[in-house]
Amino acid sequence: MRTKMNTEAFPIGAAIRSEALARDPYPWYAQLQSREPVSWIQDLGMWYVTRYEDVRAILMDDRRFTTASENSLIFDTFGAQMLTSEGAEHERYRRPVQPYFAAGYIRKTFEASIEASARALVRDFRAGEVIEMRSAFAARLPVLTILRVFGMPMAAETHFRAWYDSFEAALSNFTRAEEIRRAARVNVEECHEYLARLMREFAAKGERDSLLGALVNAPEQARLTDEEIRRNLLIIFFGGISTVEAVILNSLWALLTHSATLARVRGEPSLAAKVIEETLRWHSPVQSATRHVVETTVYGDIQLAAGDTVNCMLGAANRDAAVFADPDRFDIDRPNAQRHLGFATGIHSCLGFNLAKAEARIALQVLLSEFEQLELLAESSSAPEGYEFHQPRSMCVRCSRR
Ligand code: HEM
Repeated sequence: MRTKMNTEAFPIGAAIRSEALARDPYPWYAQLQSREPVSWIQDLGMWYVTRYEDVRAILMDDRRFTTASENSLIFDTFGAQMLTSEGAEHERYRRPVQPYFAAGYIRKTFEASIEASARALVRDFRAGEVIEMRSAFAARLPVLTILRVFGMPMAAETHFRAWYDSFEAALSNFTRAEEIRRAARVNVEECHEYLARLMREFAAKGERDSLLGALVNAPEQARLTDEEIRRNLLIIFFGGISTVEAVILNSLWALLTHSATLARVRGEPSLAAKVIEETLRWHSPVQSATRHVVETTVYGDIQLAAGDTVNCMLGAANRDAAVFADPDRFDIDRPNAQRHLGFATGIHSCLGFNLAKAEARIALQVLLSEFEQLELLAESSSAPEGYEFHQPRSMCVRCSRR
């Protein structure tokens, strides 16, 4: 039986360095998949699971592999909410918000405003100008969208952006640096105070036309406490920003580096939906879903100790040749692209996937309809990178109008 103490039993895991993984994780994933599908990654102090079927099996097994752990950085930052709870508690948090993320509701309630926000963001791009797409467009659209979903004023964008950046630093604070934790705690506190003020206003007005209003004014027997509402809103907010930014940038990057596909999508804009689906597989914005071992568990010939962290590598599973033929190829005609695990699976699978897909599709369609030419400036842009969040660090595009 192999354990994490037998580091010689996991030579690839022992050789991996986080910097190399961050630059380009795919060659490492391929090696792990073929020779060490469950491996102890010494540099990160956690297990990596890379094959599609193993990732799926672990995410479906919430009895042995849990999100509820004191070791969770999400718990450390936000406290208990749906992404750190299981069973009845998880169900109680998720059920009241689920209808607000259904496909039909998103289409009817938000698509027009997402398009209006996207058009407003590009309105001032001048002909021939080079735009850094991340800061000027992809990072802003998700914040504006989530404010609308919550029922908050658009003027809150700057506050929410700053809070978000502090939360993101805390969630990748693997060394648990105290100053990052402290800063995040102060920001979580401020964000709670802001939400509490708005909740009092919504309660007084009986407002129900937004997610926040509906939660505040829910019937007593189904209502979460004020604190639970705020904690769950924060994880929803956190879930919907960099992830959407990444799928917008990764799909644009895919199109601007695949000219034949770009020409097809220009001719048939509805193909944008297929571009998004294949991008979620090919360069998954969220590369991993983290679980914690509930009690000492044998998985194949490996013993996992209680409390160990297991990272289910969605980005690797989505390039598993056992499921996706020629997996490194970007191909919007792939017949099984929608089997990707970009939104994970099991009870914690992404709450906001319909919203994310709508935002990314509309973003692409707006960019293609507003600009006759979009030219990627390779020397000032980077390919998608990173083994947690995965996207270009910057993406400079010359935009020419119709
Ligand atoms: C392309 C964009 C997105 C990607 C790739 C993505 C990916 C994911 C993944 C992989 C998980 C599972 C985490 C785990 O099991 O540990 C997840 C969960 C979650 N996502 Fe997303 N997400 C995206 C957009 C959104 C949006 C727009 C929202 C909300 C506005 C959102 C809210 C959530 C929430 C609340 C959870 C936790 C669900 C639960 O614990 O039951 N996500 N997401």
